[in-house]
Parts: sequence; structure tokens; C-alpha cells
Amino acid sequence: MKVIVCKTYEEASLESAKIVAEVMKNKPNAILGLATGSTPEGMYSELARMNKEGEIDFKDITTVNLDEYYPISPDNDQSYRYFMNKNLFDRVNIDKSRTHVPDGSAPDGEKEAERYENYVRSLGGADIQVLGIGRNGHIAFNEPDEELVPVTHVTSLTADTIDANARFFKSADEVPTHALTMGMGTILSAKKIIIIATGANKHEAVKQMLKGTCTTKCPASFLNLHKDVVLVCDEAAYNG
Ligand code: GLP
Repeated sequence: MKVIVCKTYEEASLESAKIVAEVMKNKPNAILGLATGSTPEGMYSELARMNKEGEIDFKDITTVNLDEYYPISPDNDQSYRYFMNKNLFDRVNIDKSRTHVPDGSAPDGEKEAERYENYVRSLGGADIQVLGIGRNGHIAFNEPDEELVPVTHVTSLTADTIDANARFFKSADEVPTHALTMGMGTILSAKKIIIIATGANKHEAVKQMLKGTCTTKCPASFLNLHKDVVLVCDEAAYNG
């Protein structure tokens, strides 16, 4: 795994945006795998700026997001669809019909997971997958467990993740207990992966991942199986 240590969150956001922009310049119809969470917000702002300044073009870009709460309406301001529209899609020249997020309002979660998995597969996987990391080492909503699931599936969130995400809701009781998420294999099918980690609360998860071994106790550690992964982090996440 290649590691880029930045001084600040702003620098990490710019570095990450440059990596995504490079893929878009080399392949104007690239498939971008995208992530939510507060970490990539700065990167999305940089991408929106680059698009405004004419450096990158989203006209022929397709996007596939990692995950979505389940159940949740796409209009709910805590849904990941809402987050993506606000942080990126409404700010760039992307064709919205080419933007894909698992449908949190689908009546049957298992069927929606299967449909989404097949769709990502039909694209041949993402050209680049952007990831954040949970403080417990989760990626997308693949939580630490005895076993990890390779394909897109419905999962229940751990108490730690509900607690970490409660800051976006009025209370922890309002955080959905389930989610639709790409599986470990769906994520690893991307040609290139960039994982962004900032802040000291991510240090333990980053340290475990950088050991270079794989453990289901830290799903991010499975990125060690992929040959083109870049970790972009700040000093706090790297050094603790
Ligand atoms: C959520 C998302 C993950 C994200 C993680 C970290 O649970 N499902 O994709 O990486 O939280 O979020 P943050 O960047 O806000 O710390």
C-alpha cells in the first residue's frame, strides 16, 4: 500500500482530489466508486472547484456509491443519496441518471442488494474506488465480524458505528440500524483504490491496516490484498 501523509485535512483533500482527477483525465468515461462520511467532503469540494475551473469534466462519468442506510428515503437529509447530491452531484456537470446509490427505499433490501451488485459487475467494477474508514476499521458498512461478505448485502450496524454516526442525527435512536453496502469483493474489484483517513480517532484503524496482514476484526486490512491502493492520511491519523 502506498502511503501519502499530509500535514492537514485540507492538504489530504487536495491530494485525494488530484488522484481522482488523474483517473478522470486519462479516461473521460471513467466509473468512479464514491464514499460518504465527513472525510471526503473536502475532496468533493476540490473536485467541484476543478470542474468549475474547467480542469475536469463529469459529462461522461458514471458513479457508483458504496452504501446507503436501510431503510431510508432518498429525500431524507441524512440519506447518502442526499449527501452525494449536496456535496458533489449538484455542484458539477454530471448527468444525474449516471449516478448510482443503493436504493434505501426499495421494498425488498435483499433484492436491491442483488440488483446493485449485478449492476456494478455489469460495469466491470470501478476505475477508482474512494473509501473512508470507520474508527473500528470498517469500510463502506462492512463492519468487523467473524466473517465478511464478498457481495453487496443488507447488514446491521454495530453499536460503535451507530454511536459515531449519531452526530448527524437528532439522537442515536434515529440512526438507522441497517444498511445496504457493497461487499468486500465488490470493493476489491475496483482497479484502483484510495482510502482517506484523517484525525487521531482513525489512528488505531490505520495502524491495524498498515500492519500488512488481513483480519476480519479490521475489514480495511483486506485492502492489503489489492495491488493498487493509496492511503491518503493526515499526521494525526498516521501518528496518533
Ligand atoms: C460511515 C460510512 C463509511 C465511512 C465511515 C467514516 O459509516 N458508511 O463509508 O467511511 O462512516 O465516516 P467519517 O468520514 O465521517 O469518519
